[in-house]
Amino acid sequence: MTAAARPVPASLPKDRTPLDRLSLLVDLASLIPREIDLDALLETACERLAVAMHADRATLWLVDAERGDLFTRVAVLPEVPSLRQPLGKGIAGTVAQTGAPLRVDDAHRDSRFDPTAEERTGYRVTTMLAAPVREHPDAPVRGVVQVLNRERGVFDDEDERYLVALALQLGHILSLTTLRAKDATSPGVVLRGPFNRIVGTSAAMESVYERIAISAKTDATVLLRGETGTGKSLLARAVHVNSSRQAAPFVTVDCTTLPGPLALSELFGHERGAFTGADRRVRGKVELAQGGTLFLDEIGDLPLESQQKLLRFLQDREFERVGGRETLRADVRVICATHRGLETAVADGTFREDLYYRIRVVEIDVPPLRARGAEEVERLALHFLDLYARRYGRPGTTLSDAAKRKLAGHSFRGNVRELEHWIESAVVLANGGPVLPSHFPLDRLAGRGSGEREEAGFTASLTATLDELSRAYVSAVVAACEGNQSEAARVLGVGRNTVARILKRGAPEA
Ligand SMILES: Nc1ncnc2c1ncn2[C@@H]1O[C@H](COP(=O)(O)OP(=O)(O)OP(=O)(O)O)[C@@H](O)[C@H]1O
Ligand SMILES: [Mg+2]
Repeated sequence: MTAAARPVPASLPKDRTPLDRLSLLVDLASLIPREIDLDALLETACERLAVAMHADRATLWLVDAERGDLFTRVAVLPEVPSLRQPLGKGIAGTVAQTGAPLRVDDAHRDSRFDPTAEERTGYRVTTMLAAPVREHPDAPVRGVVQVLNRERGVFDDEDERYLVALALQLGHILSLTTLRAKDATSPGVVLRGPFNRIVGTSAAMESVYERIAISAKTDATVLLRGETGTGKSLLARAVHVNSSRQAAPFVTVDCTTLPGPLALSELFGHERGAFTGADRRVRGKVELAQGGTLFLDEIGDLPLESQQKLLRFLQDREFERVGGRETLRADVRVICATHRGLETAVADGTFREDLYYRIRVVEIDVPPLRARGAEEVERLALHFLDLYARRYGRPGTTLSDAAKRKLAGHSFRGNVRELEHWIESAVVLANGGPVLPSHFPLDRLAGRGSGEREEAGFTASLTATLDELSRAYVSAVVAACEGNQSEAARVLGVGRNTVARILKRGAPEA
C-alpha cells in the first residue's frame, strides 16, 4: 500500500546524532502495538529517516507479494496516489532484485536510473542511496528504502552502512505489523487491511474503514453497532489512535457492569462525603479522559439517570462530580458501542431518544463475520495463527486444508472472537504441527446442539421468553464451567461482558 516521498517538515531537528538514529526506531516501535493507519506509519518512517540521513526525502518501496512488483504511495501528491515499478527496473527495482545496497552520485548519468517517477512527481533527483528492507540479511526482500538528495555533498560509506542497518530494523518492524510477509520464505509483503492489527479486505469492511478514517479526522461522536465479537472495541481504539488525540488517554467504561448510582460516579466522579463510604474525592472517567477519548461500551445498558447527565455533557461538555457543586468542563471525544438495536430500547423507554440522536452523529455498522466471506475468515484465521504461533513459541504451525474447510463451514456466531479462540486453542493442541479439524474446540461448542444440553443441566420450556431461555442456557454453561464466567464466555464464543449482561438481563427483580 504505502510509502511516501515527503519533504522533511522544517520543525524536525536536522542533526545526525546517534540519539536521532535511536529515537527513529523507538518512535516507530511505539506505533506497532497500535491500530495505526499503515500509511501514517510508513510516512512517519520516511520522515524520520530523511532527517536522520541528512537527506531531502526518503521513500519506502514495498514488494507486492501478490503482483511481484514494487509500489510506493506518494502521500504529498494526491494526483499521484501510488507509483509502481517492476523488479529489476530503476534503482529501487535493482536493489529489490539483487538484494544489495546501491549508491548513486548523479542519478541522471546512471543507466539504471528510471526517470518515470520523476516525470510524474516533478521532483528532481541527483544523489541517491537505497538499501533492501528485510528482517535479517538472509530473508527475502520485503521492500527498498531510498534516500534522495543528500543535503551537502554525496552519500558516503558511513551513510550506506547506516542505511543498511536501518533497513534491517525497518524490516523487523514491518514484520510485526499487519503489513508483512505471507510467510518467512516468500518475498514481499501482503496488505491485510489498511489499519495495523485490523485484518480484513472484504467489501463489507471497506465502508467501515472509510468511516473510521473520516471520523478519526474529526471530534464527532461515533456509534459503533454490531454483534458481539465483531471488533467494535478494536475499531473504537482505531478511531482514537488515528485522531489528533492519540497521545492523550483512551478510557473505556463498560456500561453493562454499572448499577444506577455507581454509573454516575464512575462517569463523573464524586466528592468526599457524597455517599456513605465516599471517604475521598474520586475523579470520574470523563475527567480521566481529558484531552483524549472516552469509549462507552454497551451504551444501551447505561442507567437512565446517567443518560441524562451524559446528554448534557455531550451538548455542553459540562458536568458535576456526584455531591459536588462546581461545574467542570472536560475536552473529551466520545465513542459508543452497542450490540443491540437501540431503537427497541428507545421504544421501550429504557433509552432516551434525545441521547439516541446525539450519539449517532457518525454511525458505523460492523458486519458479522458471516457477511465478510470465506476468504476473509481464512485471512483472519491465518492472522491469528501467526499471532498465537509466535506467542506460544510454535513457529511453522500451519492450517491443513481440512482445517480450512472446517472453518469455511462453521457459522461463527461469536464472530471474530470465536474464530480467534478456535485458532488459539488449535495452535496449542497442534503442538507445532499442522492444525487439523480435531484441534478445534468442537466438543464443547457442540454443547449448543441437542446432546450435551442436558449434561449442562439445561432444560427448556416452550413458554419461556427468549431472554429467559438465553439466561437459563448461559447459567447452565457457567455452572458447567464451575462458575467461571470468562471460561463460559470462551465456550460460548462471546465476550465476558455478554455473559454478565445476559445473566443480569433475565434476572428476577430484586
Ligand atoms: N478485523 C479484525 N482483525 C483482527 N482482530 C480482530 C478483528 N476484529 C476483531 N478482532 C479481535 O477479536 C476479538 C474481539 O473483538 P472486540 O473485542 O473488538 O469485539 P466487540 O465487537 O467489541 O465484542 P463485544 O460486543 O463482545 O464487546 C479481539 O481480540 C479483537 O482483537
Ligand atoms: Mg467490545
